[in-house]
Amino acid sequence: MSRTHFDGLMAKIAEANIAYHTKDAPVISDAEYDALRREADALLAAHPEFGDAAEVLQEVGAAPASGFKKIRHAVPMLSLDNGFAPEDFADFCAKIRRFLGLDDTKLQFVAEPKIDGLSISITYEARKFLRAATRGDGSEGEDVTQNLLTLQSLPRTLPEDAPSGIEIRGEVYMTKADFLALNESQERKFANPRNAAAGSLRQLDAGITARRKLSLFAYAQGESSAPVAATHWEYLRKLESWGFSVNPLSEKISEAEAEEFQKRIGIERAGLPYDIDGVVYKINDLALQGRLGFVGRAPRWAMAWKFPAERATTTLLDIEIQVGRTGALTPRAKLNPVNVGGVLVQYATLHNEDEINRKDIRIGDTVELQRAGDVIPQILRPLLEFRPQDSSPFEFPTHCPVCGSIAVRDTDEAVRRCTGGLICAAQITERLIHFCSRGAFDIDGMGDKTVLEFYVAGLLKSAPDIFRLPLHEAEISEREGWGKTSAAKLSAAIAARRSIPLPRFIYALGIRRIGENNAKLLARHYGTYENWRASMIAATQIGSDARLELGSISGIGPAIATDLAAFFSEQHNLDTLDALGEFLTITEAASAAMSSSPLAGKTIVFTGTLTTLARPEAKAKAELLGAKVTESVSKKTDFVVIGADAGSKAKKAAELGLTILTEAQFREIAGLE
Ligand code: IVH
Repeated sequence: MSRTHFDGLMAKIAEANIAYHTKDAPVISDAEYDALRREADALLAAHPEFGDAAEVLQEVGAAPASGFKKIRHAVPMLSLDNGFAPEDFADFCAKIRRFLGLDDTKLQFVAEPKIDGLSISITYEARKFLRAATRGDGSEGEDVTQNLLTLQSLPRTLPEDAPSGIEIRGEVYMTKADFLALNESQERKFANPRNAAAGSLRQLDAGITARRKLSLFAYAQGESSAPVAATHWEYLRKLESWGFSVNPLSEKISEAEAEEFQKRIGIERAGLPYDIDGVVYKINDLALQGRLGFVGRAPRWAMAWKFPAERATTTLLDIEIQVGRTGALTPRAKLNPVNVGGVLVQYATLHNEDEINRKDIRIGDTVELQRAGDVIPQILRPLLEFRPQDSSPFEFPTHCPVCGSIAVRDTDEAVRRCTGGLICAAQITERLIHFCSRGAFDIDGMGDKTVLEFYVAGLLKSAPDIFRLPLHEAEISEREGWGKTSAAKLSAAIAARRSIPLPRFIYALGIRRIGENNAKLLARHYGTYENWRASMIAATQIGSDARLELGSISGIGPAIATDLAAFFSEQHNLDTLDALGEFLTITEAASAAMSSSPLAGKTIVFTGTLTTLARPEAKAKAELLGAKVTESVSKKTDFVVIGADAGSKAKKAAELGLTILTEAQFREIAGLE
């Protein structure tokens, strides 16, 4: 087969792509197109040397994420907390009751199969389909409007009884049959229907999406110009009446019926035409959903009860030690690749030193592993009957495998840490990767590969160096795999992040135990960067007012206060902050709801027994409106909410002449009817 023939084939495919995508006027039929692509794939398999001319296949096959326009979600798209057992469900119900201050009232749920696809947000304006976006990082997704238009089942308009503006959420998925047919028809195989659905939806060329068959189930609401229903069940019925597919297995159930529902769907699972990985239980009453709200990235009113994990056995080839940004040495199992529930698994977590000892896991063992949903596969146990005669227990290293420094383990800790700090390449690069990551500075193009590349090249040694990279743009553009355009793009991406909201900045620093949630709490409490920095430096003094204040922030506590104090006690960290300060504008991040509330920026203490609100609900509401909730009363406290039988805190508040609120007054200020 000649090269000329192959080149001709590429030209035809390129022409067909342009006709389909840009001109929306196909020049050949789908069947002809598929035949061309199959021939091209076959030729390429036989003649790998043709690969240099096969760019056309690449371009359309794997669309880069950056090719899509970004869409900011009006209401964040969240994930769900998982559980695997009846006790997890019971816990979930107990938490709801505690939060709402209910006695043992039984809760009412809607139970829906958890579809294994990818979530989508679909917006209608004036009852006409306007746009669709993927979940992305939850705050910002990709514009897949054109791609969604290829789904036959998407209602293009909504009837009169729908609100004029509404965002509907659901799951795009591929049926098992369509997945098998797709894999049959092409060389590049997808691991499972979920990957196939994601790969098909995220195509810059909507023509390709059109050729793959995707389906949709609607199951949740985003923003809406008018309320649609009082319960989730009624909402689903509305969606159905508007022409959406709603999962027919969904049911309204009471708390006591969940276990049986879970069992039944588990049995039906294999026979369903699409993949599911569990059942989602959602509180039916939408007013209660509203009161329950969210914690972190998940709603308090819903839970995904996943099916038991899939298991398999394979050989443990090696135990590798990875070094994280805080210096933690984490063991990872390298496995003889094995298929567990449709996914090829090559690595599994081993948690820590004690876990390896406790289970006596040895290199060379045949091990049983388990994979549950998106969770990293775990090793359950070694199968002793297959243990090689010459095996010996695993010895956990006492030195960092990256920098050679001694690795120590505190008595009360499960983790061994490298003491190399700033000389340990692993810690530095992991910190830089974290600094540039999504929840932190979110710098496009600064993923782990680029960070490592620049670190090795000596361009990047510390976080402030990131903002010096644009000075090296010419040098970067000369590097292999780069070029003028991509180097300029990187400079622009870096420049775009020189203004950053305080919570992201705090999180980016990678201080131990300061994840996104704690960073938000700190930002909310201290308000501005300058105030936070000064207070943290003051808090390095044990027993100082600043230290007590830090430890009394609800959700922070004394242990985390110690971590923060440790960070601010190191001169090199202060130097780094100063160096960063030269490049950055650190802004406050207050939402509209927050800044307009009389509670915004105020410090509030709850004391005594509240009768209409449980303490967690009151606290969450106050925080949502921008207040800082602390445990102890001081002259800095703005409001003290006093319930029944309040004791010393109420007395102190009176002595200090603070503003005292009754529960009813708090409800009024917080806008609760
Ligand atoms: S509700 C705020 N319902 O599961 C909660 N999610 O693990 C919004 N999913 O990102 C989600 N089936 O992609 C909901 N019936 C269902 C679902 C479902 C599948 C997915 C969804 C979500 C993920 C969370």
